[in-house]
Amino acid sequence: MTECENDLFCGVNYTERDPEDMDALEKKHTPVLETEEIGENTYRVKVKVGEYKEHPNDHNHFIQFIELYSGRTFIGRATFASERADPEATFVVNLDHKHPLVAYGHCNLHGTWRSREVDL
Ligand SMILES: [Fe+2]
Repeated sequence: MTECENDLFCGVNYTERDPEDMDALEKKHTPVLETEEIGENTYRVKVKVGEYKEHPNDHNHFIQFIELYSGRTFIGRATFASERADPEATFVVNLDHKHPLVAYGHCNLHGTWRSREVDL
């Protein structure tokens, strides 16, 4: 069996640490969600990578996409061009039943990172 605990591209990277205790890699990659209820069962959800510490955004190193899920239910995906788009996206989400929201961001050099779960 191959050891992969130090392989950023194996699985999904996640930390339980509070932002002030995160290392620089965690701060730069962990997606952050902001939610606002805008109607009955309707929410505006902003997802940003680099909220705690700015992530590079050049042709060699950038966030390629953000995805949003409600539990295991796919909500949406935003794909970014390097330099020309900042790694943040806003989704309008309609949910008739609620699971915690979770976002994923993918860096071309450092793999996929998961946000904390956010209850609605
Ligand atoms: Fe990165």
